[in-house]
Amino acid sequence: MKQAIPICEHMYWVGVHDFNCRHFHGNMFPIEDGATYNSYLIVDEQITVIDTVEEEFIDIMLERIQSVIGDRPVDNIIVQHGEPDHSGGFLKFMQVYPNAQPYASNAGVNIMMKQYFKDFDYKKVKTMDEICTGGYHLTFIEMPLIHWPDNMMTYVKEANILFSNDAFGQHIAGYDLFDDLHSLSKCIEKAKEYYANIVMPYGERVEKKLKEILALQLPIKMIAPSHGVIWRTYIQELLDAYMEFATFAGKDKVVIIYESIWRHTQKMAEALAEGIGTNGVSVKVYKESITSSTLMMKEILDAKAVLIGSGCYNNDMASNISGLLAKLKTCHIKGKKALGFGSYGWFGKTVFNINEKLSEAGFTLFDEETLSINYTPSENDLNRYIEIGEHIANAIKKQ
Ligand SMILES: Cc1cc2nc3c(=O)[nH]c(=O)nc-3n(C[C@H](O)[C@H](O)[C@H](O)COP(=O)(O)O)c2cc1C
Ligand SMILES: [Fe+2]
Ligand SMILES: [Fe+2]
Repeated sequence: MKQAIPICEHMYWVGVHDFNCRHFHGNMFPIEDGATYNSYLIVDEQITVIDTVEEEFIDIMLERIQSVIGDRPVDNIIVQHGEPDHSGGFLKFMQVYPNAQPYASNAGVNIMMKQYFKDFDYKKVKTMDEICTGGYHLTFIEMPLIHWPDNMMTYVKEANILFSNDAFGQHIAGYDLFDDLHSLSKCIEKAKEYYANIVMPYGERVEKKLKEILALQLPIKMIAPSHGVIWRTYIQELLDAYMEFATFAGKDKVVIIYESIWRHTQKMAEALAEGIGTNGVSVKVYKESITSSTLMMKEILDAKAVLIGSGCYNNDMASNISGLLAKLKTCHIKGKKALGFGSYGWFGKTVFNINEKLSEAGFTLFDEETLSINYTPSENDLNRYIEIGEHIANAIKKQ
């Protein structure tokens, strides 16, 4: 029988591992090392469960719950977020615990009804609404559009624990459930990857919500998210990192992403990288079609600039580069610089189009010549790109 894992007095992790997960949320976000869907059990005069799990794993979650409460019924189920990775098991859960009282935000009830077509007599809750389960008080904090309209967190003041749902999540799958069983750098890097791919478009709201939560001065001993490890030691570092993510704070780093068939654009990318990387600014270089989108988004989040390149194919940039630019536009990125580059045969407008899309996505263009080459860049051209890389590095260091 699968067991619940205690996280503090009267509270348990009753989540599941998805060790084989390589594509989080359908095929959108490749990950390398599995994921968890975390669900939590609070055993008090009333028994409460916070979030369920993906539908295919619900039996494991129920087993973990029963390993603690046996035949006792669950009294409350908190639906912090209606996305199926946390609500897919809800119908089965309600079959097993038909008398459990579901709580959700107003938007959450709407989403649950639209997805599962069944009214479970939800109680709608708002920020600072509270329920008492006996010895514990659960206070709800809505965080609309971080990242769906319905996301909310639950704070338990007697235990100083914040159940944060998707916020502060990461993909670390294992039985080492706490942050300090891993290195600080690994935990923050994984939180960054998760943020960059799921939460990044909502930076402004994240910044506002973080300030709002900090202003409440809630003592927080533990942050228990709905994916990955539970934070109990690196909490301050995590909050500082989230503030940096939310404000798109950049390091002295440039990310170069390109697509190239005959390696002409690739040569340009590599010359620019040489000029940047040998002048005191870190540089990452990725050929888009063979690189994980999750990795590229993570690297863009804390870079000061991105350079996007493409050869010209059928009078346009490569379709994957066009897709990347469209995606960047949805991310509402602030305060970063950019520039396009590329090689063409008989239609010289591609780089102009890349630059236009970078501007539309909110990047400020570097004040350099249009980096467009007809067919193969010559030795002279490449030396010029190394120099332009140096200019870019100098501009970055001043920024
Ligand atoms: C499938 C294909 C389609 C192309 N279509 C165009 C085109 O419509 N207009 C153009 O100016 N060049 C076109 N070209 C020429 C390329 O833009 C040129 O070879 C360029 O140097 C390729 O850069 P790359 O080596 O980085 O792929 C095409 C090349 C390929 C392979
Ligand atoms: Fe979500
Ligand atoms: Fe999630």
